[in-house]
Amino acid sequence: MDLSKIRKELIYPFCRIESKRLLQKFHERPRTLKEVVHAAMDFGGHGYLRVKTMQIRSEILQLAEIVAEIQPKTILEIGTHRGGTLFIWAHIASELVVSCDIIDMRRQEWLFTKFPPPSSRCEVKLLSGNSHDPAFFQRVRNVLAERLVDFLFIDGDHTEEGVSQDYQMYKDLVRPGGLIAFHDIVDNQPYETNQVQFFWKKLKKIADVVEIIENPNQTGFGIGVLRVPAEGAPDLH
Ligand SMILES: C[S@@+](CC[C@H](N)C(=O)[O-])C[C@H]1O[C@@H](n2cnc3c(N)ncnc32)[C@H](O)[C@@H]1O
Repeated sequence: MDLSKIRKELIYPFCRIESKRLLQKFHERPRTLKEVVHAAMDFGGHGYLRVKTMQIRSEILQLAEIVAEIQPKTILEIGTHRGGTLFIWAHIASELVVSCDIIDMRRQEWLFTKFPPPSSRCEVKLLSGNSHDPAFFQRVRNVLAERLVDFLFIDGDHTEEGVSQDYQMYKDLVRPGGLIAFHDIVDNQPYETNQVQFFWKKLKKIADVVEIIENPNQTGFGIGVLRVPAEGAPDLH
């Protein structure tokens, strides 16, 4: 076990107490969407329970507003990481949020499943595994239990092959009129393995899309949104 992992394990009981207090305070009164997004940017906490997004504030706020407009019952996310965007979806969806990550989220589950506000009936389910694995896809389907999703956020594997595979595998779980969003669509990317922009260029040629980009010259980030037509999201082969 590496040193940072040992440290995380040692401080975990204290982090639980701190995180519980932070979340209770946040849930003391109803929050606006702007407040939710602001909090999700860097909610605080330490170790396994540090909650924050990997997003630009203006971009994720705009996406949250577009998603809230369709009054989603069910949201599916690929890429939980530190639970920042999950925190937002848990305040918007009325019934279910399923968030998936290849990382084992058992340490975080205790906190992340408490994200919906006290007035909400929304349930949060975390699934750990590789989104590209057909057995994992089946687990997602089992949790959804025949429901179609109103909004799918793809923010997992950022290689062109990875994001294409997530899109092809999960797109038909989204209802007509629902939304699919992709993170990191801008051309300048900080890492070679960030290749969502190549996938996005192909998709936007054949689909009804919106781009949310704070600054066209920025490095990284940028969100692409596809509205699913009546005949379903297009194939990209
Ligand atoms: C950019 S982070 C997600 C950030 C999060 N949506 C936010 O902004 O709050 C990407 C996450 O995707 C996960 N991931 C990468 N490849 C994956 C895969 N094949 N299946 C599931 N999760 C994956 C990583 O472990 C990482 O936690």
